[in-house]
Amino acid sequence: MSIATQDAARHMDGIYKYQRYIYNATRKYYLLGRNRLLDELQPDDGSTVLELGCGTGRNLIHAAQRCPNARFVGFDISRAMLETARASIARAGLSDRIVAHQADATAFDLPDLCSEAHAGRVFISYTLSMIPPWRQVLPRALEAVGPGGRLHIVDFGQQEALPRWFKSALFAWLRQFSVHPRADLEQELTKLASEIGATLEFRHLYRGYADYAVITKPA
Ligand SMILES: C[S@@+](CC[C@H](N)C(=O)[O-])C[C@H]1O[C@@H](n2cnc3c(N)ncnc32)[C@H](O)[C@@H]1O
Repeated sequence: MSIATQDAARHMDGIYKYQRYIYNATRKYYLLGRNRLLDELQPDDGSTVLELGCGTGRNLIHAAQRCPNARFVGFDISRAMLETARASIARAGLSDRIVAHQADATAFDLPDLCSEAHAGRVFISYTLSMIPPWRQVLPRALEAVGPGGRLHIVDFGQQEALPRWFKSALFAWLRQFSVHPRADLEQELTKLASEIGATLEFRHLYRGYADYAVITKPA
């Protein structure tokens, strides 16, 4: 692991050391759009689904319960989060279909994490806003998607249609947890999608509270 990855891992462990115990109960109220993403994954039978920054494993478990014929791989930089994720996956009886590794989203290779060269679906949920070099993550995530596959992303939006005071209060609060909503996510994804001839669908959900993107790679 590089020094930068070790530093980032320590930082995330510091944030989540205790938060992980109340993470799922509290985040359901403000990490909006995650269930929509899970509904729209719809992986092919027998295919692999990858989550970057899987946290407590909440999304992987829900996705595996919805899609009983797919395999799931997740990774996170935080050992503390992974400990919780692995325990939850085992409690849900899904250890044979979900694996969770430690890896850095800015420097991962899918074949190092599983036997597959590509995944049919890759998703990133409320994680880009916590990664300072988030632009580095996107080409890697797209590289992991197989032909005809999709990359789904949900994260905090720019609160366009919500009162200005709400955006100021929310962003100030998020900064305390090293969360920085990415104002130029759509622009960056538009550029990357056009470079590889992929299609991008970008939606502002809940009056801009969350942004939701789907990139479909050519078959
Ligand atoms: C807000 S949580 C989201 C967890 C989960 N995706 C969800 O939707 O509930 C962000 C996660 O990203 C992880 N993370 C932050 N930087 C990362 C990086 N460089 N590589 C992989 N995971 C990272 C954190 O440890 C944390 O578990």
